Amino acid sequence: MDRIVVRGNGPLNGQIPIAGAKNACLTLMPATLLSEEPLTLTNAPRLSDIATMSALLRSLGTEITSMQDGKVLAMSSHGLDNHKADYDIVRKMRASILVLGPMLAREGHAIVSLPGGCAIGARPVDLHLKAMEALGAEMDLRDGYVHATARGGLKGGKIDFPFVSVGATENALLAASLAKGTTVITNAAREPEIVDLVHCLRRMGAQIEGEGTSTITIQGVDRLGGATHPVVVDRIELGTYMLAPAICGGEVELLGGRIDLIGAFCEKLDAAGISVRESDNGLTVARKNGRTKAVDVTTEPFPGFPTDLQAQMMALLCTADGTSVLEEKIFENRFMHAPELQRMGAHIDVHGGTATVTGVETLKGAPVMATDLRASVSLILAGLAAEGETVVNRVYHLDRGYEHVEDKLSAVGAKIERVHGE
Ligand code: EPU
Repeated sequence: MDRIVVRGNGPLNGQIPIAGAKNACLTLMPATLLSEEPLTLTNAPRLSDIATMSALLRSLGTEITSMQDGKVLAMSSHGLDNHKADYDIVRKMRASILVLGPMLAREGHAIVSLPGGCAIGARPVDLHLKAMEALGAEMDLRDGYVHATARGGLKGGKIDFPFVSVGATENALLAASLAKGTTVITNAAREPEIVDLVHCLRRMGAQIEGEGTSTITIQGVDRLGGATHPVVVDRIELGTYMLAPAICGGEVELLGGRIDLIGAFCEKLDAAGISVRESDNGLTVARKNGRTKAVDVTTEPFPGFPTDLQAQMMALLCTADGTSVLEEKIFENRFMHAPELQRMGAHIDVHGGTATVTGVETLKGAPVMATDLRASVSLILAGLAAEGETVVNRVYHLDRGYEHVEDKLSAVGAKIERVHGE
């Protein structure tokens, strides 16, 4: 298995290009199932999660041609010859549940394996299933699979989510686009990935209003056509690389970066003493003079501080001046990076969903274990701030969500390399 070796670094300078968003691409790809005509995504990220979604769609009958080294995905779901999303693929990636809504809408039935637990919490799919029921589907859970049927097709309905779910909002949008009549989703997620999905569905001919707000109204249409759509910039990759100069000093321009995607995070960086400004080709980040200041962070649905940047922010705060309190409100078990950071000399106390971080002057390099995607990259960031060498093991998590991480960081002067295992 590959490892990433990081050595404590001086200032970083230069530019890092930001890829298309993993979590947008993972919901845009299943949109191909809604139409007989081709859907082409440009600016797709080159990641193992995208390969997993491609394998799942191919198993259902979608033809996918990957062009420009994987940056362009041309998909055609002219004929779907299988309606079952198998456990062997679904268990690898929770986002597989996003094929349920479009398959049900187009074919009237779908069988999708339940994804099961994952490292960052139990993560049930009850809201996805309730949304399908609100559109008239009958759901039967047996043998670890959801058997969903909509005799006569899906019908528009009212979907009122008890709390915000990104994935359930996406599944509801995909399904309601082809349902008969009007669907109103209340307490909908407002994430940029939702807005991107709506833009793509609209290009395909869907009639949707209210994306980016808590109430989305969908007027179902009989059929959707083909489209070409560029995947929105990855705000989590953006935030992650913004933290590299914040931790090491120097000045780095994040190409394609946009403040509107990441406002709450930028406010916290500013409070910590990190400068973020809009520049010609994106966002430029530099550390102001002196030590980073402690800040408190609470994760929330968009437009709040994203849970997917909590681990990376913790890496910054490990060497800040003072005590920071991080509250994780989205997932119940998302502090697994804390014990690994402690191995590097960080002072962190975790109680339930709250982590208290008391900054130390310097971290010390150590061998550490990556437990999930965002935890892995937080350990790399911490390694950049540490004295000596940090070896991050189990980097397959990293490859799910960051393309060429070692190339992007070494291009701005980081001492980082990948060591290939047997
Ligand atoms: N939840 C339920 N029932 C459901 C769905 C969700 O109880 O049916 C709970 C979850 O367990 C969680 C909360 O609701 O506690 C919010 O989960 P949400 O559904 O919003 O998350 P998701 O759609 O499963 C996406 C991203 C995650 C990101 C979250 C929150 C994708 C593929 N994944 O997950 O990304 O953390 O939204 O923003 O879009 C990552 O990229 O590292 C990652 C984990």
